[in-house]
Formats: sequence, C-alpha cells, structure tokens
Amino acid sequence: MKRVAILISGGGSNMMALVASMTGDHPARPVLVAANDPAAAGLARAAARGIPTAAVDHRPFGGDRAAFEAALLAPLEAAAPDIVCLAGFMRILTPAFVDRFAGRMLNIHPSLLPRYPGLSTHARALAAGDAEAGCTVHLVTAELDAGPILGQGRVPVLPGDTVASLSERVLAMEHRLYPMVLRRFASGDLRRLDLP
Ligand code: GRF
Repeated sequence: MKRVAILISGGGSNMMALVASMTGDHPARPVLVAANDPAAAGLARAAARGIPTAAVDHRPFGGDRAAFEAALLAPLEAAAPDIVCLAGFMRILTPAFVDRFAGRMLNIHPSLLPRYPGLSTHARALAAGDAEAGCTVHLVTAELDAGPILGQGRVPVLPGDTVASLSERVLAMEHRLYPMVLRRFASGDLRRLDLP
C-alpha cells in the first residue's frame, strides 16, 4: 500500500478528491495533509476525515525558503510518504526539496502545459482567445511547472466565459484527472492519461 502525503495552501478541494478516491482496492492511502498556512480550510476537512494534519506557517521564515522547507520536512518525513501530491500548494519549492522526492512528487496545474506556466492561467487563456483550456498533472522537477506530464484534462472555453466560469469548469476537471492519475501512478503505470 503506497503512502501518500498531500500538501495544500487553501480550501483543499483537490486534496479532498484525492482522499475520497483512495479507498477499496486503490493501491494508496493518505497518511498526511500538510499546509503552509495554519488557517488553510483544507486542514479541518482532512482532520474531519481522520487524516493526520500538519501546518507550517511559511511567513515567519520570510524569504528563507530552505528554513521553511526544513520545518515542513519534519512532519513530512515522519509520515514516510512514498508519494507526495501538491494540491493547490502555492509555494515554490527549492531544488533541494524537489530532489528529496524526485520521481515521486506530483503537482496539478490549472493549464494545458506547456502553455501558461505560473499564475493567472485562466485570464491568460481568455485573453489569448483560446478555444480550449484545462489542467495538467506532472512530476515536479526543479523547473517550475515543467516536469514530465502524467496527464491532462481538456475543457472547452465557451462564449462569455469569465475567469470565474472557466476556473470552475477546469477545477471540476482537476477533481476528475488528479485521482485517476494518482491511481495509475501508485500502481506503477506511467502511461499518460488524457481526458475527456
Ligand atoms: C485552484 O486554483 C486549482 O486550480 C489549483 O489550486 C487552486 C486551489 O485548489 N490547482 P484547491 O481547491 O485548494 O485544491
């Protein structure tokens, strides 16, 4: 049984989708939900599901990323995860941290990478007049939003779409894609998954 730690920063809707999927004959189980913000609403949602949680506020560390990550590593290593899932986690990780989990840390990004790495992905897709948008699950490497792609989910951009309507449609696809990719990855199947 693979042990999965999930890192969040906010509401944790992707985390909840991953947690809900890890049941029955699924080859993985959640062992920790950790946040860089003690007020992250996802922490209470995870705790309500009986999942151990940890919070390491990044703000006292200022710009010292390595110090924040050293603090985060304590509960993370204690959980002995086989797989780490970044799910709405909004901190950029140093190469040293990424290297510790090389090949077994996943992230979901709300665009069809390599288009729109970074922030404001939906606004950029709308501004470009794209006909489609979506989300990408990829292995995390030192370069931001650029690791090997494990899966993508495509959604149409519709006339009159706003950032709110498009992000809602993409988020629903994220909640489908990430659990399916995690199940494949946890079972050792590295085939890329494309939805729909
Ligand atoms: C959302 O914008 C999602 O697209 C991205 O992270 C943000 C928060 O997700 N992956 P969550 O609800 O905290 O999982």
